Amino acid sequence: MSKITAAITAVGGYVPDYVLSNKELETMVDTNDEWITARTGIKERRILKDKDKGTSFLAIKAAKDLLKKNNTDPKDIDMVIMATATPDMPVAVTGAYVATQIGADNAFSYDLMAACSSFLFGMSIAAKYIESGSYKKVLLVGADKMSSIIDYKDRTTCIIFGDGAGAVLFEPNFEGLGVQDEYLRTDGNGRDSLKIEAGGSLLPSSIETVKNNQHVVFQDGKTVFKFAVTRMADVSDKILKRNNLTGDDIQWLVPHQANNRIIEATSKRMNLPDEKVMKNIHKYGNTTSATLPLCLFEYEKKLKKGDKLVFAAFGGGFTWGAMYLTWSYDS
Ligand code: UT7
Repeated sequence: MSKITAAITAVGGYVPDYVLSNKELETMVDTNDEWITARTGIKERRILKDKDKGTSFLAIKAAKDLLKKNNTDPKDIDMVIMATATPDMPVAVTGAYVATQIGADNAFSYDLMAACSSFLFGMSIAAKYIESGSYKKVLLVGADKMSSIIDYKDRTTCIIFGDGAGAVLFEPNFEGLGVQDEYLRTDGNGRDSLKIEAGGSLLPSSIETVKNNQHVVFQDGKTVFKFAVTRMADVSDKILKRNNLTGDDIQWLVPHQANNRIIEATSKRMNLPDEKVMKNIHKYGNTTSATLPLCLFEYEKKLKKGDKLVFAAFGGGFTWGAMYLTWSYDS
């Protein structure tokens, strides 16, 4: 029997309707369109305004989009991996709710949290379940309602993040297409550079933590940038060399959308022209777990069977890595 590889066979996505532009941010904090565009590449981001809807709302929309487009019966899905840094609630698994709501009654599910690398690490896990032969259809959803944890008075963070969701289906492939290699890393020394201080077991919620504004994202932007810009490029370069590839062999870089300057440093290191780099940062900002699948969602029509893709991400923790994958279908 030929070896089973894990291929992406379908893609879905969703962003909420509300557009928060740089111009509107100018009315909220001391910032301006020129600064945001030059320093990050972001022009606008989407926000889920409904107060009674959490990340699951975005995830369900993206998953349903995938099921509909691909004509997949949700009852055939074996598992749902929910990559997110903003679960609906602590403890109760958001992925379980998403699976039930989309009709994936025969699936089991769990949440995976690795900050902005959640989706990339989820791809690795989904692939392992498929490669082992244990499961045939693994749905990986990346979704974040970042607006629920952002302080819209902090100009160093509120300009960056947005809300969104994307989903991919992993299935067995017998032509050798799909995930080829990965290089995933973490460094816990970075945990104080990008975090929400309170609300976890270390500093549970209290009146004091609310008064001290400790339930929103804090980022030491300079430090995170310094690490992200080198680490993301390092792993992308490493995955190329390890597979005897150069930039000429690669059709697409699928990078985490945190800052256009980080994306450019990575593509430059890989010797890739702009046309080979998936980008939607100008429209959506940093949607954390949703950046990679939302790129696939937007570029799906351009992808061809056999295309060589490199995924790369960097996030809080620190967490980062790269994956080399060959595309399995013509859209
Ligand atoms: O996805 C997870 C990983 N996250 C990342 O990869 C994000 C990494 N970090 C970044 O993308 C960048 O560090 C930021 C976009 C967050 C900030 O850009 P920067 O070029 O590193 O700016 P900076 O923090 O060095 O600040 C430069 C100046 C400062 O003013 P002074 O001290 O030079 O007078 C800031 O106060 O820009 C000022 N500044 C702003 N000005 C206008 C900071 N934020 C703003 C703003 N608008 N929103």
